[in-house]
Amino acid sequence: MPDQQREQWTSRGGFLFAAIGSAIGLGNIWRFPYVAYDNGGGAFLIPYLAALLTAGIPLLILEYTIGHRFRGAPPAAFRRLARPTEAIGWWQVAICFVVAVYYAVVLAWAVRYVGFSIGQQWGDDPEKFLSAKFLHVADAPGGISTYVAGVAWPLIVVWAITLGVLALGIAGGVERINKIFIPLLVLLFGVLVVRALFLDGASAGLDALFSPDWSSITKGSVWVAAYGQIFFSLSVGFGIMITYASYLPRRADLSGSAMVAGFANSSFELLAGIGVFAALGFMASASGVPVGEVAASGVGLAFIAFPKIISSMPGGDLFGVLFFGSLVIAGLTSLISIVQVVVSAVQDRFGLGRLTSVLGVGGAVAVVSIALFPTDQGLYLLDVVDHFVNQYGIALAALVVVVVAGWILRRLTEMQDHANATSATKVGLLWRLCLGVITPLMLGWMMWDSLRDEFAENYEGYPSWFLNAAGWGVAGGVLVVGVVMALLLWRRAATPEVAPAQGETVEEKGAR
Ligand code: ALA
Repeated sequence: MPDQQREQWTSRGGFLFAAIGSAIGLGNIWRFPYVAYDNGGGAFLIPYLAALLTAGIPLLILEYTIGHRFRGAPPAAFRRLARPTEAIGWWQVAICFVVAVYYAVVLAWAVRYVGFSIGQQWGDDPEKFLSAKFLHVADAPGGISTYVAGVAWPLIVVWAITLGVLALGIAGGVERINKIFIPLLVLLFGVLVVRALFLDGASAGLDALFSPDWSSITKGSVWVAAYGQIFFSLSVGFGIMITYASYLPRRADLSGSAMVAGFANSSFELLAGIGVFAALGFMASASGVPVGEVAASGVGLAFIAFPKIISSMPGGDLFGVLFFGSLVIAGLTSLISIVQVVVSAVQDRFGLGRLTSVLGVGGAVAVVSIALFPTDQGLYLLDVVDHFVNQYGIALAALVVVVVAGWILRRLTEMQDHANATSATKVGLLWRLCLGVITPLMLGWMMWDSLRDEFAENYEGYPSWFLNAAGWGVAGGVLVVGVVMALLLWRRAATPEVAPAQGETVEEKGAR
């Protein structure tokens, strides 16, 4: 039965805020600045822009179109596209389950660091504070032996907020929180960037970030980094945008929305680069070292470098609250979108109510997260699962989607016609070329490149048993879950199997 009662965003703005909220996350604040710096600085903007225009925005348009046309979270949407492809949908759901489990943990750390900023409670050695006093990290990967209450309680708070918002529904929860949080984030982060620009040494930081190293454009690895950044940052390949677009009304400007979301995300990313490097420039000049020596990304940037900056600047407490508060807000809107995929998928395929699905399956994600990550193994698990699921989950799923849609099913023209029937901005041959040729080539190259690295040496020098279990095991596990779920549900039709006409959604087809 088609779902006549499907929830809807109340306006295009509401959908856009949610899509932008999903895109802007930890990736923008702690990943982009270092990736740009490390891959040619100002010159990186060329491959980055190319990646945005040839892969990021085209893929966003494809995901919006699949979600809008087939009116479902990934499993139902792909099943309606072609029955065997339901497995891709469940694979993406399993990926979202895993990403949500650890993404929430970083937010829990950031929640605590908002408090630690006041009075700079990390003391003189933020690195030691993080690993020994706060996270109680074990000396090496192994069995869990300590449960860390100081991480568990903020994690429970993060999960309570996330599930609470999801329980309120698409319009009442997800849309409303994004409409409040995204302007708030821009305001808080804007204040932070302005403050950072007035620090001594800020210009040295910006010089380091933007000085172009033109020779980098000829390096393959720089292009791989640009495409990798765009995929993670835009939230494509997770199935999030398919899910969010399934709640759009019939008349929705799909291509225009993808462009707005794509450019908004990149603008925030640039703003983050400016703020982070201005602050790093200050730290470098205060310690009399080159910016390259203090530049970092990920956990090292947020929880070690930033506390050092905060401790050495005037008005550091407020700067810390702004920085970690921004991380919490940016991450929360992304986490909500990731869990929404799991909740919607189960709702669609089993016909469950929202609350049952949020409590049942959203609750299961929360329980796994709260059981495994506030432990002395949490940091190791997070590092390895994140690396492998990004590379051999999200990026690989994106590659499979473009190859299946473009080359095996040959449905890109149909998708193009659907997008054009509803959108003011039309796409054509160029869009199909980007998705059918450029994106698969770049993703294939990325895959090859990282597999080579993986087999050349163990990721971060971790023991092989640990990489096999937490890395390959989890990345392979999510794929197996996808296939098994699709096989188990093979006979259970929840939706019309035949594609709707151009510009028509499955609901309208069902009503015919
Ligand atoms: N797009 C989200 C981020 O950047 C997942 O963190």
